Amino acid sequence: MGWTRERLEDVARSRLGGAKLIVVSNREPYIHHRRPGGGIGVMRPAGGLTTALDPVMRACGGVWVAHGSGNADREACDADGRVMVPPDDPSYTLRRVWLTEEQEAGYYYGFANSTLWPLCHQVYQRPTFDPDHWAVYREVNELFAAAVLEEARGGPAVVFVQDYHFALLPRLLKDARPDLVVAQFWHIPWPNPETFRVCPWAAELLDGMLGNDLLGFHIQYHCNNFLETVDRAVESRICRETFSVAHRGHDTRVRPFPISVDPDLAADYLAAGWEPRVAAIRQKYQLADRPLIVGVDRVDYTKGIPERLRGLDRLLDRFPELVGQFHFVQLGAPSRTSLPEYRHLNHEVQTLADEINWKYGSETWQPVVFVNEHIGPDLIYALYRGAAGCVVSSLHDGMNLVAKEFVSARDDEQGVLVLSEFTGAARELTDAVLVNPFDVDAVAAGLHAALTMPAAEQRRRMRRMRAQVADNNIYRWAGMLLSEACKLVDDGPWATDPDPSDDEDATSVLPGGPGSGVLKFTA
Ligand code: F6P
Repeated sequence: MGWTRERLEDVARSRLGGAKLIVVSNREPYIHHRRPGGGIGVMRPAGGLTTALDPVMRACGGVWVAHGSGNADREACDADGRVMVPPDDPSYTLRRVWLTEEQEAGYYYGFANSTLWPLCHQVYQRPTFDPDHWAVYREVNELFAAAVLEEARGGPAVVFVQDYHFALLPRLLKDARPDLVVAQFWHIPWPNPETFRVCPWAAELLDGMLGNDLLGFHIQYHCNNFLETVDRAVESRICRETFSVAHRGHDTRVRPFPISVDPDLAADYLAAGWEPRVAAIRQKYQLADRPLIVGVDRVDYTKGIPERLRGLDRLLDRFPELVGQFHFVQLGAPSRTSLPEYRHLNHEVQTLADEINWKYGSETWQPVVFVNEHIGPDLIYALYRGAAGCVVSSLHDGMNLVAKEFVSARDDEQGVLVLSEFTGAARELTDAVLVNPFDVDAVAAGLHAALTMPAAEQRRRMRRMRAQVADNNIYRWAGMLLSEACKLVDDGPWATDPDPSDDEDATSVLPGGPGSGVLKFTA
């Protein structure tokens, strides 16, 4: 049986029993902002995490604790920072945590995005190791711990922590409430031990993460790296058979859970008719009816955007017959622009696009269109559907959901995915045209394939990739994680009936069924 929203709802109900589900992430799924003309608007942030988790929370209900970052966030919620979301279909509570500018600078821009982000991605961007950032990172983890503990008061709860912003949070939660089930998903890669050990606070970070009952990464390789890192850095007992770490009398299971998309979302976005939206873009940027290759990213140095532009330059140089025949449309949502590296990257991408347009373009044809703004999903999905191909050239990426979104949009079974072999997605989407983004000729060859692949070959590959994304969808990711986390509930101090359905396929876990042991709250 496949994973659907309904099945996840069933699993959440039965597996969680009476426990509350609390998700924690830095980025909030809905941002309230003041409209220039007056009134309050709601924005969805760019980035895979919130897009992936929102359908899960809609299905499971519960509380999502996140940084309140919008300029109208306080007005939109109650005195405790709580607001029901999504605005058009309130299904779960968003609990906002307020940070000062100094806290945001030290914790988010500082330790999370100038230390852990480059450290874990290993893309030759040197991490910053600033003791002040580290102090604020600890302080903000404590602030979030206080908010979670408040939300978890009075009953059992499963806390699902997201990402590298909160390496210390699991330990803080476990120390305060050993009865909580704490699981964390690390959305970015985990580097090899040699890379990680240069961090002056490596041991503290690992100790924080080992407060988890369950720790998930996208792929087995990152789990292996994590275990190796722990092995070298902290005193612990590692069991390679169960893939778990015993540290300070507590066991942490480490598992791969490849994240994915909700394939039905594509159908929803495309239902209203994608053609007029693509036609409007074609008209706005004078694209006529030429084939389009698209790139859709936050402008981030891990995404390999300059590398793909250099590949495009190489393609036009090597295949002059392609000049004037297609357009490359790069949607680049500005991201983390308070950091100089990110501002420089925006500038570098714009400069490269201008250079290529100057070198090969004419009055009637410009090869590159760089749209450096936030674009809504309606238009993004329309472009996925109408393009000849999509290129994802990340230098290193935990998963990359753009690749899966593109596949989910291609109900016509056409379109070529050019995909970096250094993404988690490349492990599953083996029918993409896989390229090494550091190899300019390989990127050029990938783009060439996207423009010339026969329709039958496109269909053969796309059909297989669509089957993969349909099966391994976001509901499966969440269902597997919740089932695994709740096994620990079953083993824990609240355990009632042992659950015989411990298999990967939790089909027998229905409300009131064998897995529906209600948790006993002991704290
Ligand atoms: O994938 C890592 C990640 O931090 C996600 O958590 C998020 O979806 C994305 O990058 C966007 O980053 P930010 O929240 O910093 O804009």
